[in-house]
Amino acid sequence: MCLTKNRDWKLPRERIEEIISMGPILENITWYGGEVLFLENFQIIYDLLRPNSQLRQHIVTNGLLIDKVWAKKFTIDETHITYSIDAVDPKLYESIRRGASFTDLLKSLDLMNSARTKYSDSDLLSLNFVLMKSNLDQLPLLPKFLKNHRFSHLNIVPVTTLKPGDPENIFESSDKNLINKTDRLLKNLFRECQDLGIGIHEWYFQAQGDTTKDKTPEEKKKPICFKPWTKLQICEGGDVILEQFCIKPVGNVVNNMLLEIWNSSMIINYRENLLKKEAPEICNPTCFDQSENRYLNKY
Ligand SMILES: C[S@@+](CC[C@H](N)C(=O)[O-])C[C@H]1O[C@@H](n2cnc3c(N)ncnc32)[C@H](O)[C@@H]1O
Ligand code: SF4
Repeated sequence: MCLTKNRDWKLPRERIEEIISMGPILENITWYGGEVLFLENFQIIYDLLRPNSQLRQHIVTNGLLIDKVWAKKFTIDETHITYSIDAVDPKLYESIRRGASFTDLLKSLDLMNSARTKYSDSDLLSLNFVLMKSNLDQLPLLPKFLKNHRFSHLNIVPVTTLKPGDPENIFESSDKNLINKTDRLLKNLFRECQDLGIGIHEWYFQAQGDTTKDKTPEEKKKPICFKPWTKLQICEGGDVILEQFCIKPVGNVVNNMLLEIWNSSMIINYRENLLKKEAPEICNPTCFDQSENRYLNKY
């Protein structure tokens, strides 16, 4: 299922050093992977960034390598941990995440929650659920699992597939019954999570700014997205984008310093366009879709 292993590349050492040197001015850093907890040097990098008290680290992980030591550090630092869990049925989980053990996942969650009880009980846990045909029926089971394991957020991530017409990609399907079922299950899930006080993060729409339809003239003047002023994302191969949805990269870290990319003509182009227009051509039209069933309208 995972698509981020198609290019053979390495984040240059100088870029890691640059990130560490920027620690005192960064507010958030998300480690996405691959699986960062599997990297030999990750513990050193994480520890070098720890003294920056304004910096919140966030790790997207399968969680299977979280031991007592990591759990203690994460809770003390209030590091946000996003577990990738695509099924709460053990067999299905293990078939989607080949090689993973559901028992180990539960152990990891227990370690995190015991450490939270001991060191700091802030909201640290999110769950990323990549939605596809084979795990659609897991949606009604999610609220109980989220509550039992003290997750505060759920991110529903529509699956990305490489082959067009892949039956797993319900978001490309023209099957009306399947589309209606997905819509119904998602709406029920969002309602139940809301009742439990669990936040829903709609992946596709994090790029949007204020989504309220009745904007004041003052609000209308503001750019709909602030990513070109706030965020860089390093992708596979070293390409740098602002955010998952952006179509055009703003640079590549294999050859350029992050600071060069931050001041590059491409990123300036994004900034100027977003300041001038409601929906600049440079941007992904999905970012400007305000419709209620936007998940299913995406394709
Ligand atoms: C690429 S993984 C890397 C981080 C880590 N190894 C993990 O398992 O979470 C980052 C996120 O992408 C999601 N992901 C993996 N394959 C995907 C796909 N085909 N479509 C959409 N999201 C996917 C994962 O579930 C995970 O939440
Ligand atoms: S495509 Fe444009 S609106 Fe969408 S996240 Fe990128 S910069 Fe923001």
